[in-house]
Amino acid sequence: MHLTPQDHLFVLTGAGISAESGLATFRGSGGLWNGYRVEEVATPEAWAADPTLVWHFYSQRRRNAISAQPNAAHIALAQLEEQLGDRFYLCTQNVDDLHERAGSERIHHMHGSLFQSRCTRCNQPFPDVALYEVAEALPICAKCSAPVRPHIVWFGEIPLDMDTIYRKLDCASILLVVGTSGSVYPAAGFVHIANQRRVHTVYVGPEDPLNREAFDEILLGNATEILPSLIREDKLKNPTHYF
Ligand code: OAD
Repeated sequence: MHLTPQDHLFVLTGAGISAESGLATFRGSGGLWNGYRVEEVATPEAWAADPTLVWHFYSQRRRNAISAQPNAAHIALAQLEEQLGDRFYLCTQNVDDLHERAGSERIHHMHGSLFQSRCTRCNQPFPDVALYEVAEALPICAKCSAPVRPHIVWFGEIPLDMDTIYRKLDCASILLVVGTSGSVYPAAGFVHIANQRRVHTVYVGPEDPLNREAFDEILLGNATEILPSLIREDKLKNPTHYF
């Protein structure tokens, strides 16, 4: 696959890119949390029924993400961005901050951010790294005293800033998808949009995603093995380089 100076790269990442940093994926083995399916604690209904359980879940995820480190795949994407500048756009379904800590700047978290919370009434997200693990410690808004929730897009809610995502997809010439099972929409449908525009599409991961047939290329393997080799420096030095 060629990447020319005219190409615009749209990258979509999922839980698999952070797996080798020690963060569990959703649907693999270990995808359960304290016996719950993630869908059972990541919904507005779960929040209405038991906010302590929901905050306990996200506090644990905060704790895990704080102690995790970016891996070679996160770093490879940050290096690629350094080369491509505004011709690079990273859309992640992940709520951890490992892409940012690897150096990514042109990044959008379509499912929200683990290290932000927001008031359920004012709706304004703010930075928050605190852990809320018992009912007595659940946060409330300093301004209006309404409950504060994780700034996460739950099942049944609309992902953040889809307009920008579709605009970026619209000017992409290559779609690179890394470490996502292709089971959650709208992200799983990006490859179909790309196909309508005849954009070249590549998937990287150790097993086929559910939407496998939609991709032009499937590169089977772990993200930390494949991504660094895709952007080896000697290839990037050429005006026309290869993935
Ligand atoms: P999944 O858990 O569904 O899929 C993870 C994918 O990562 C699988 O296809 C694995 O094969 C792949 N994988 C595992 N190890 C890998 C590695 N070392 N390198 C590359 N790939 C690897 O996670 P997502 O597809 O990200 O949404 O899940 C999508 C959404 O569903 C999440 O954002 C979350 C979840 O429920 C919300 O919370 C709204």
